[in-house]
Amino acid sequence: TESTLYKAWLQYSAPESSELRNLYKGMLERVVVEGGVSRIPPAAVRELSAGADTMLGVTPEFMDQIPANGEGPYLWICLRSDESYCGAGRHRWETGRDAYSLKYVLSAREERLELTAASKAGVIYGIFHLLRGVSLGLKPAQWAIEERPVNQLRMINQWDNADGSIERGYSGRSIFYKDGVIVQDLDRVRDYARLLASVGINAISINNVNVHEVETGFITEEGLPEVARVAGVFRDYGIALFLSINFAAPMAVGGLDTADPLDEGVREWWKETSERVYRHIPDFGGFVVKADSEHRPGPFAYGRDHADGANMLADSLEPYGGLVVWRCFVYNCMQDWRDRSTDRARAAYDHFKPLDGKFKDNVLLQIKNGPMDFQVREPVSPLFGAMSATNQVIEFQIAQEYTGQQRHLCYLVPQWKQVLDFDTHAAEEGKGQVNRIVSGSLFGMKYSGAAAVSNIGDDECWTGHPLAQANLYGYGRLIWNPGLTSEGIAREWAQLTFGSDREVSDKVTDMLMASWTIYESYTAPLGVGWMVVPHYHYGPDVDGYEYSRWGTYHFADRDGIGVDRTTATGTGYAGQYFSPNREMFESLEDCPDELLLFFHHVPYGHVLHSGKTVIQHIYDTHFSGAESADGLRESWASLQSRVDAARHKAAADRFAEQSEHAKHWRDVINTYFYRKSGVPDEHGRTIYS
Ligand code: GCU
Repeated sequence: TESTLYKAWLQYSAPESSELRNLYKGMLERVVVEGGVSRIPPAAVRELSAGADTMLGVTPEFMDQIPANGEGPYLWICLRSDESYCGAGRHRWETGRDAYSLKYVLSAREERLELTAASKAGVIYGIFHLLRGVSLGLKPAQWAIEERPVNQLRMINQWDNADGSIERGYSGRSIFYKDGVIVQDLDRVRDYARLLASVGINAISINNVNVHEVETGFITEEGLPEVARVAGVFRDYGIALFLSINFAAPMAVGGLDTADPLDEGVREWWKETSERVYRHIPDFGGFVVKADSEHRPGPFAYGRDHADGANMLADSLEPYGGLVVWRCFVYNCMQDWRDRSTDRARAAYDHFKPLDGKFKDNVLLQIKNGPMDFQVREPVSPLFGAMSATNQVIEFQIAQEYTGQQRHLCYLVPQWKQVLDFDTHAAEEGKGQVNRIVSGSLFGMKYSGAAAVSNIGDDECWTGHPLAQANLYGYGRLIWNPGLTSEGIAREWAQLTFGSDREVSDKVTDMLMASWTIYESYTAPLGVGWMVVPHYHYGPDVDGYEYSRWGTYHFADRDGIGVDRTTATGTGYAGQYFSPNREMFESLEDCPDELLLFFHHVPYGHVLHSGKTVIQHIYDTHFSGAESADGLRESWASLQSRVDAARHKAAADRFAEQSEHAKHWRDVINTYFYRKSGVPDEHGRTIYS
């Protein structure tokens, strides 16, 4: 049997109240599927049967007919359309397809729970919702649920390599690959598909955006049968498979001497390639592309632009309904630190804004949430809202590359939620929020949604830190419905994962909710970022990136710190925002404290809105942050008797490391700034001069 670590949030513990247990027992014993059980996906039948068994010890009996009067409660499933639940058809990405409702009906004649779904995918989502609701102890009257996802594409990006390693993976090795090939036994991949479908994910790219040699061959006649096996596993759960492709594939595996997107031979090669891919995988999602970014090949080598590159691929995929997800993480990674005029933060906007309207309508631009690279704090990318005629997908990073690498607790849903709620002012008051751009509603885009870098590997608990499961869960829940609260999602996850003990779910919820702020406070002050060990990105190295080629500088000297990105005296980045955001970031008075050093270079004595000086803020947050990190350790320790030993120990080890490591962060940062500034701590605490 599977361990509690492995089962993640699909523990299916029974509701606390025996009354509810009895009610649902009766209800799940009999399942009437209108038109017969063969109409609903086998995965839905499997999930319902397994869930009902684990939770309530009942084996549902599936029938086509409503039981005669007086036979007690039952579950009734009605499917509105027989449309295949993957399939590259016209409606593939319509949110209406994924819709379902769950209603409790009690009349003189009968008592039943009704699941009505618009498509097979909707049945799967509905079944997972039903099981979740029962486990959480929903009362009959609470089943008045109408669901329809807000976002079309709800995607996961694996950064897995064929050799079994994972780029920025902090949870062991890949579950997809070993020694250069796709694993034979796909059971674990199936369990991953279950986890993803249970939170509404409907798309996955299964290889690293940096496409190496073996993976370049995934789109060949030799590679595709293996990829198709994986596609089959995800298809069962309504998840479309995508591949990251190598822009230079026509040369690497096609035997051509160019990859020029305007070359006829190259265009023809991609057409044949897409035809081949769809022959093996008829409901293939499309290509994810990292081009002209961090030394990856792209159209620039041929004097072409990104629209030329993306449109060539889009042409080849169009006959099959396939999509091109083209990443905007394009910047000069060979910058000279002495050059003060180039600003990496500007890069995505400078490259892509001029191309607005030039992309085919099956191209989506994938834009990282911030202008740099998944730092603990960044402003929202100014590209959101700036392109009103281009499909867009927001990219988050569930993997905690810069946020403690799943050794530190950092619940990221509040960060993502803040990004989605940000008003870009691309439209009149109150209508320009990022989430309206991402959902496509603001500009009426054909395709849109969200993608995120996965945080899973072959660790028993999937995510390194057992509590990092909350980020995977939360990503799916939040992009299904950005109206949910971070706290609500945290609580739901904690209850599903640890059961109905209130003491546990309350404490875990509080810990999750505090964790991002805690991590930020002992690491990166006031939006500065990048004070991490180069390449590894774990642990402090204040000047690690200061004289590098990556465009990531803080400019600390004896007088002050921060990057001047104003239009008046700096790089002009602030000018990429719409008014009044532009003016807010431009102004030293109005710029929010948490982003001050992202936009301004200020003296250490500069007084923040909080009333503290910058230097005192650095000291205070580092002392309190390290203390709070130790508080997380203590909170978790207090739950020892209430959480099973395996899970308790796995997390306790991480909290111990975090607590120690936070002190290291505190002392390195405080000492660095004390040495630079010579300003002592007002409270005379220990700083290692
Ligand atoms: C970050 C990360 C890289 C990754 C890149 C990307 O820079 O450190 O490993 O390849 O993002 O998003 O493409």
